[in-house]
Amino acid sequence: MLKKMRKKKRKLLAIALASGLVFSGLHIDSALAANPNSNASPIAEAKNETPQQVPQLVDAASINAVIEAMTLQEKAAMVVGANTVALDPVNGEIIGAQSRKVPGAAGQTQAIPRLGIPAIVLADGPMGVRIDPTRPDDDNTYHATKFPSPNVLASSWDTELVNKVGLATAAELSEYGIDLLLAPGMNIQSYLLNGRNYEYFSEDPLVTGIMTAEFVNGVQDNGIGTTIKHFAAYNQRTLNNGNMNVSQRALREIYLKGFEIAVKESDPWAIMDSYNAINGTYATENKDLLTSVLREDWGFNGFAMTDWENGNNRDIVKQIEAGTDLFMPGNLNQINRIITAVNDGSLDEKYLDRNIKAILNIVVKTPTFKGEVATNNPDMEAGAKVARQAAADGMVLLKNEDSSLPLANDVSVSLFGTPNIETMTGGRGSALVYAPYQIGIPEGLQNAGLKINEELLSKYETYVEELRATEEYQQTPGNFFVSTFPTLPEMDIAEDAIVAAENTDVGIIVLSSEFGTYGSDRSEEDFYLSESKLKMIEDVSDAYRAQGKSVIAVLNVEGPLETASWEDKVDGIVLSWQPGQELGNALADVLTGAVNPSGKLPQTFPVDYAELPYAERYPGVNDEFDYEEDIYVGYRYHSTFDLEPAYEFGYGLSYATFDYDNVRVNRNGNFKDKITVFATVENTGDVAGREAVQVYVSAPDGKLEKPELELKAFGKTKELRPGKKENLKFELDAKNLSSFDEEKSAWVLEKGTYEVLVGASSEDIRGTASFTVDEYVVVETVNDVLAPQVEIERLSKFN
Ligand code: BGC
Repeated sequence: MLKKMRKKKRKLLAIALASGLVFSGLHIDSALAANPNSNASPIAEAKNETPQQVPQLVDAASINAVIEAMTLQEKAAMVVGANTVALDPVNGEIIGAQSRKVPGAAGQTQAIPRLGIPAIVLADGPMGVRIDPTRPDDDNTYHATKFPSPNVLASSWDTELVNKVGLATAAELSEYGIDLLLAPGMNIQSYLLNGRNYEYFSEDPLVTGIMTAEFVNGVQDNGIGTTIKHFAAYNQRTLNNGNMNVSQRALREIYLKGFEIAVKESDPWAIMDSYNAINGTYATENKDLLTSVLREDWGFNGFAMTDWENGNNRDIVKQIEAGTDLFMPGNLNQINRIITAVNDGSLDEKYLDRNIKAILNIVVKTPTFKGEVATNNPDMEAGAKVARQAAADGMVLLKNEDSSLPLANDVSVSLFGTPNIETMTGGRGSALVYAPYQIGIPEGLQNAGLKINEELLSKYETYVEELRATEEYQQTPGNFFVSTFPTLPEMDIAEDAIVAAENTDVGIIVLSSEFGTYGSDRSEEDFYLSESKLKMIEDVSDAYRAQGKSVIAVLNVEGPLETASWEDKVDGIVLSWQPGQELGNALADVLTGAVNPSGKLPQTFPVDYAELPYAERYPGVNDEFDYEEDIYVGYRYHSTFDLEPAYEFGYGLSYATFDYDNVRVNRNGNFKDKITVFATVENTGDVAGREAVQVYVSAPDGKLEKPELELKAFGKTKELRPGKKENLKFELDAKNLSSFDEEKSAWVLEKGTYEVLVGASSEDIRGTASFTVDEYVVVETVNDVLAPQVEIERLSKFN
């Protein structure tokens, strides 16, 4: 598919660019962007060359000469995004900032045609391409596939699948003329209420890093860039610009680890700095973060951009020196501040040159630079196919009492709950995608041949319609950031449930938590089901159980919700997530067994919010938040401090069952550079299925305390038919097994016995082995940076 698509591209600039020093009499595009209210070009004093001598950007080798030929105005314009919205010169317009080349894309860089530099286009986001679906004076539509969000992809534990979604996303980016995707999001889901958790993969840094790298490789192998984001420790919306105090160890082991893996394993073209400050310094001004860690420790080759902010309360000189290369979406004020700073000597131009070089190094790789032209004709069927597979593979079967699932294709079903009408497919704000269609739950089940209780369905439709027409529940005229739908109460269905239970084979209750907003965090209440939802569950449960029939709950949620208090009232629970446009079809695939569920949780489902170590503190006060739970994030906390979760990290059922055997390590258990772990998995069930296998390590406490267990590797079997086995092999090296010693500023491997725990989840360990490390090893010494500026009360298992 991709090959065919790429053939359609026309090489336009190739001849002009290949000839090197060509005449360029064009006016700079950035003149308008730099000051759209004025006709005067800010690029007034081009250097004293005859047109024939003006160096042109032709390849990476030409970059130095091009920078040398730039005027100061051009340099300043090059590091500031070409926001096309009429700018307020003081504050800068940022909301709604868009690319002029591709309507609805989040931004673009400046073009300097005089030097052969084209404008490249940047578009969101984590669930697919975010562009406007329609254009003025144009009858065509510009839809994009709404793929599952990263948390759903991570639930598949399938790296090949994630790579495939990356590839399918690249195909659409390419068709729409986009050079750089503003995704994937890869912050750690350390805090349950973070309003943007669905944009991220997991609470675990290894899962986050590996999945990001697979996605990035999938996109970039096809010639389009990615932007990993938001760097770093951006774990809440409430104190969006607040200061996050985090220990060096928690940063290195948890919050930076995924980024480190992604940078080293996939070489992303760009990284987006987060809005917040880390240990007293804004991420965008943070040289420790952007230079010492990102470039020096990890060898990052791309460029760093700000998140979409006007930058007025940031120090532009500090940002440029720190290694923030590009200011997005960009405003005139920033250009002027840079010019002034160079002129008054507060900014050394060499930093500007360095940053421009980082940007141009990427520009020369882009489709735009290579002369590829948007065809605006993506293969939507191909996208839908991948979206459906990914959605089904990311769903997690949490409960299946008495094999109440899968359902036969000819059963009759009654659907309960307003979310069966207003099903959420996911994505808001910058993760919004204008899909060509979205398959709701009734439609998906009907497509699979199930018989739906139409009477009840239309009752729900009327109920929802009528409530939405009232002032209290109408869609509020929202903007990019706020919720537009107040959540509906459930209707009283006690009577209807009795009739439905008599007449249909199974009851399916669709549950959602609050509609999220983009601009804020969830509240503690959002973790719990409302009274009316709990009553509905009770009524449906009583009615169906009275008939000896089963009830299935579908969780149409973007993150964990409370299940412990009601889960015994239902026989089966499917976590459908909010997995994109194919939700209904993918859910039907899982409910009927067309796809045997193989998803597992990338995030712990706790029993209660109040028992979480940060419940009292999150989201912080006075613009400050301390990461006191330190390295004990998610299952690291639950396992070390013996807190029972509702559903643990790594948990998920299948319609098959799997046995684990032959768990062992090589080298007679003596660690030298690396150790190999082996396991055999056999399908002992009576249907084909796949199993996500997890390798945890319980490391000995030494000078450094260690969590009870940590995920060190994972893999997924191919589809195994009943009775079939697969041998799996995992390699663990010293870096992967080491912990971060702040005193030494080094990754160290401490002596002792390491337990290897191979399991179906973080609590369901099926086989163990052990190895010993005889010698203390300093695995890697890194820059001693990012130390907290305040005392943090750090959680310790020895307190
Ligand atoms: C978000 C980014 C996004 C950008 C551009 C910001 O508000 O934080 O994740 O890429 O907007 O839309």
